[in-house]
Amino acid sequence: MRVECDRCLVYAAPIGCGLKLYQDLITVNMKSKIKLILGDCLEEIKNIPEESVDLLVSDPPYNQGYHYSGYHDVLDEQDYRELLYRVLEGKRSCIIHYPEQTIEILAKLNIGKLGEVVSWVYPSNTAKQSRLITWWGCKPDFRKIGQEYRNPADKRIAKRIAEGKKARAYDWWLVNQVKNVGKKDNPHPCPMPIEIIRRILLSTTEIGDTILDPFMGSGTTGVACKELGRNFIGIEIDKNYFEVAKRRIESACAGW
Ligand SMILES: C[S@@+](CC[C@H](N)C(=O)[O-])C[C@H]1O[C@@H](n2cnc3c(N)ncnc32)[C@H](O)[C@@H]1O
Repeated sequence: MRVECDRCLVYAAPIGCGLKLYQDLITVNMKSKIKLILGDCLEEIKNIPEESVDLLVSDPPYNQGYHYSGYHDVLDEQDYRELLYRVLEGKRSCIIHYPEQTIEILAKLNIGKLGEVVSWVYPSNTAKQSRLITWWGCKPDFRKIGQEYRNPADKRIAKRIAEGKKARAYDWWLVNQVKNVGKKDNPHPCPMPIEIIRRILLSTTEIGDTILDPFMGSGTTGVACKELGRNFIGIEIDKNYFEVAKRRIESACAGW
């Protein structure tokens, strides 16, 4: 089923592709509902009932002067606080952000109890090689995203390893940034690596949950939702990025 208008696109997508990524995920005969909105999330979010969203997942604009094609990433500090507050207020959320610049703002916004903090670290030649992922008003369950033990020589866990068991995910995630940014297929200046969003979704949501990304950019959260059988609502203010997101989400899982 597919309904389209010039500002809003709604369609239902077959899912099940998550099976290829994570073997313990069983998704059969389900539909992932996707709704993409071109507009300012401050306005559009008013039309989305709070109770219809299970988790907000987003990397909001960092207010660090990023060169987006339309949006100017240099808000006055008070306007930036207001933007984050009005979008995050009353929702369970998982936010990816710069550490020093944003944690102080988020902590003072009264957007729920801080449930978990993970450092996303990535190799680069710049001074900044990490960002924070923080959960507000909710907690992930890291047993759902096992990983290899970091210290397999530890005798206490030898038996577990022999039994094929894994560690729960640790609180730092080594995931490369998206390379070749600016290429034709995704002109967004800072797309999120999809692996980050997969881990957030798998540890914090269930199949059939509805995820909102009010700063959708090129649609990475939507792609991961479609792969993993989550419903998705995405809002993006920039028409170019909206079109990229639409294309990426439409073609996600095609042929699986
Ligand atoms: C850090 S980027 C998100 C990148 C995205 N996660 C991806 O993987 O491509 C933030 C995005 O928020 C958008 N944006 C900024 N203000 C907005 C607003 N008021 N409403 C909707 N989108 C907005 C920007 O155009 C930008 O694409």
